[in-house]
Amino acid sequence: MRLDKLLADMNVGTRSEIKKVIRKGQVTVNGEVVKDASISVTGEEEIIYAGEKVGYEEYEYYMMNKPAGVISASDDKRQETVLDLMDDRRRKDLFPVGRLDKDTVGLLLITNDGQLAHELLSPKKHVDKTYRVKVTGELSEDDVEKFSKGFKVDDSFTALPSKLEIISAGETSEALITIQEGKFHQIKRMFLAVGKEVVYLKRLTMGPISLDEKLEEGEYRRLTEKEIEKLKNR
Ligand code: URA
Repeated sequence: MRLDKLLADMNVGTRSEIKKVIRKGQVTVNGEVVKDASISVTGEEEIIYAGEKVGYEEYEYYMMNKPAGVISASDDKRQETVLDLMDDRRRKDLFPVGRLDKDTVGLLLITNDGQLAHELLSPKKHVDKTYRVKVTGELSEDDVEKFSKGFKVDDSFTALPSKLEIISAGETSEALITIQEGKFHQIKRMFLAVGKEVVYLKRLTMGPISLDEKLEEGEYRRLTEKEIEKLKNR
């Protein structure tokens, strides 16, 4: 790829700043000053940009404990996004794998690996996602059975079978729910269809990856090699 593209992907500056810095002779590739922004690089080289070494990896993988109040998008003019919570020098091409509602918290994977994201999100791949949920009203075994069989949620959506495990039931109830789909507001709509309102929703797992309990809301970390391997070899 072009040198200026690699530098822009790694978010060292804007495209025009990068071109200027290169022209000024402040970029070296394997120790040689390079003044042509269009030269081809692989990312294996040692690249120094205005005195700082630029690390390059083709793909990066993170997990975040998403807090409430931010949206699962890469970029938004008005609202804070999950990527706004990551360091300034994060690469430019990262995106969240699927969406959590603004008020939903918990596990969100963030990567620039489009192929992996596609495989995790494709309905055909049946990736389990488990959430902890708090709802108004008393959950019952009838709800568990209904969810396990799949049911018509509303005019535009029939849910596939899902697993509901009740943790406590009373005026409000808590449960774990595992679904394989990812329709808009899916879990909230499923509970509404059985007369309960979701008041808290936290994603705990996505396929083989579980939320690291050490991450506070708003914190994130890179996936380990082991976790990346598990995701790819599902
Ligand atoms: N289902 C919802 O209703 N909201 C989410 O954020 C995720 C699943």
